[in-house]
Amino acid sequence: MLSGKNILIGITGGIAAYKICELIRMYKKSGANVKIVVTPNALNFVTKLTLQTLSQNNVAMEQFEITDYKPEHISYADEADIFVIAPATANTISKIANGIADNLLTSIALAFKKPIVIAPAMNCNMWSNPFVQENLKKLESHSYIIVPPESGFLACGTTGEGRLAELSKIYDKTVEVLNNNKKILSGKKIVVTAGGTVEDIDPVRFISNYSSGKMGTAIADYANQLGAETVLITTKDVQKNYKTVKVKSALEMQTALTEEFDTADYIFMSAAVADFRVKEFNPQKTKKTAEDTITLELVKNPDILQNLCNKKISETPVIIGFCAETENLIENAKTKIQKKGCDFIVANDVSRKDIGFSSDENEVYIIDKNLEVKKIEKQSKAKIAEEIIKEVYEKSRNICTHK
Ligand code: CTP
Repeated sequence: MLSGKNILIGITGGIAAYKICELIRMYKKSGANVKIVVTPNALNFVTKLTLQTLSQNNVAMEQFEITDYKPEHISYADEADIFVIAPATANTISKIANGIADNLLTSIALAFKKPIVIAPAMNCNMWSNPFVQENLKKLESHSYIIVPPESGFLACGTTGEGRLAELSKIYDKTVEVLNNNKKILSGKKIVVTAGGTVEDIDPVRFISNYSSGKMGTAIADYANQLGAETVLITTKDVQKNYKTVKVKSALEMQTALTEEFDTADYIFMSAAVADFRVKEFNPQKTKKTAEDTITLELVKNPDILQNLCNKKISETPVIIGFCAETENLIENAKTKIQKKGCDFIVANDVSRKDIGFSSDENEVYIIDKNLEVKKIEKQSKAKIAEEIIKEVYEKSRNICTHK
């Protein structure tokens, strides 16, 4: 997603500096060239050698270290496509907002003409300080992009707002800003299902499953970021800046999908659909009887994925099924893609506690119609979503000419 992009990271002197090691890896893994500039205080929290090794580049700090004929702050400002200052201390934020350039990092910021992303991190009282807030507003009004800090346990021992934003948020913002002119899915309609369906037994009881809806939501978020007209059909309560349709049962999900089918270019069926529902919903709470056992009669729900695949009369929509397995993952996934007739199937092992259902991480295999398997290593669901969309888009874009 960041192939060939030049990212300059500015690290200032806060404890969250150590977290940036991981951000460097995320950018590098996505194909970016990463350069780093630090304030002298940043090196109290993270070593130059670590940053150098991870970025595979020299780390700049001194303002008057001439290694080239060009003044360093100008050459750094020219080369980079984006300047990500993380963590940004109250001090650096305030200096930049007031045009002060008393070290290499702030000098680069002053000379930088392309997007600057600022991810503040500081103690909660410093964060709520009116001067800091005014300076941030000033930066925002001049098109600096702020990734706000989160609430939580702070390094100083208190709890409050000021903790560096999740790295995935800083990463996503970088991708969004860099791909702004390259909304590769604009003009495409992406429909995603998420969550586990809920099949009512009576007004107080239901049959469902552990699906959190996180994977599907991450796919919809990323599709939206890439400019797609996005529709998320979900069993969970979500608030998004794109269309969401809240459903409960498999039948409701099927109705919602049918409405979107004709205009969709891609359908990602990541919801965990209950295979059965009770034959007869009891409108009153089912009462306990003297019997030690009760029998619930279940009837099969429609196989929505299979029905959609059967309905397809042209190359579009490209339909992506998901399968959650507890054993024989690849084998079962290959059988499912053939049986259901979808274009891709994304398989994950739900017997593992570290990935899948409620976890924030996942590890999946993407299988195409030719039964070619691609493994996506364990990482955050947001990153897995990117990989899934990238793989599906790359392999299907020649045929996807719906709109
Ligand atoms: N699916 C569906 N309708 C169903 C059941 C599943 O559309 N009634 C879809 C899911 O959204 C998913 C895919 O089919 O994309 C595979 O779901 P999974 O539960 O793994 O497979 P099943 O077909 O239900 O098979 P089994 O439960 O026997 O593994």
